[in-house]
Amino acid sequence: MHDAPHQRPPQLHAILADAERAAFAMSCEERTGSLLATLAASKPDARFLELGTGVGAGTAWLASGMTAGAYLTTVEADDTVQHIARQHLGHDSRIEFVHADADTWLTEQQDTQLFDFAYVDCRPGKYLRLPDLLALLNPGALYVVDDMLPQVTWPTDHQARVDGFLERLPEVPNWRATPMSWSSGLVVAARI
Ligand SMILES: C[S@@+](CC[C@H](N)C(=O)[O-])C[C@H]1O[C@@H](n2cnc3c(N)ncnc32)[C@H](O)[C@@H]1O
Repeated sequence: MHDAPHQRPPQLHAILADAERAAFAMSCEERTGSLLATLAASKPDARFLELGTGVGAGTAWLASGMTAGAYLTTVEADDTVQHIARQHLGHDSRIEFVHADADTWLTEQQDTQLFDFAYVDCRPGKYLRLPDLLALLNPGALYVVDDMLPQVTWPTDHQARVDGFLERLPEVPNWRATPMSWSSGLVVAARI
């Protein structure tokens, strides 16, 4: 058995080429992307959230699994990298690109529409303000984070942050989480 993805989003090759030109090394692994697409396909016409667009690799994977009636909001603080994502995926009317700090964005979400899926790929909503993020999720919603295993892009103080997050997982109320030592290290959780 090998676990390389069978299908890739059509835009992925060009997105990753632009990422290399921009020296952006934080796009999700292909196996993670494939899982995102599979999970997205299991939620027809659902509302998706990505915190940390990067150059749009994860966005492309999510969009490739989403049905025509699904909708994805993706939030990124760095306009330069999100510009690359917009260039490749901006034609897709199912995707809303938000240029904002996810911390500020979380504060602004009061009684707004709830989400059925969240891929959280920056500190707010993962290492910070997890309860605020979980408050935006419908019952049955999925919550996915990656990069739980050491990455070359990590700052030196980051391991302790990840360790703390993993240690706190069993104490999070109203969710059912599975840590996965696979791909870049994932946690997949369901809101209950
Ligand atoms: C790991 S990368 C995202 C990769 C992308 N989700 C993917 O799967 O290909 C993390 C991104 O989060 C962005 N970011 C970091 N802190 C942020 C914040 N507070 N608010 C929004 N975006 C943030 C970074 O600029 C970076 O582009």
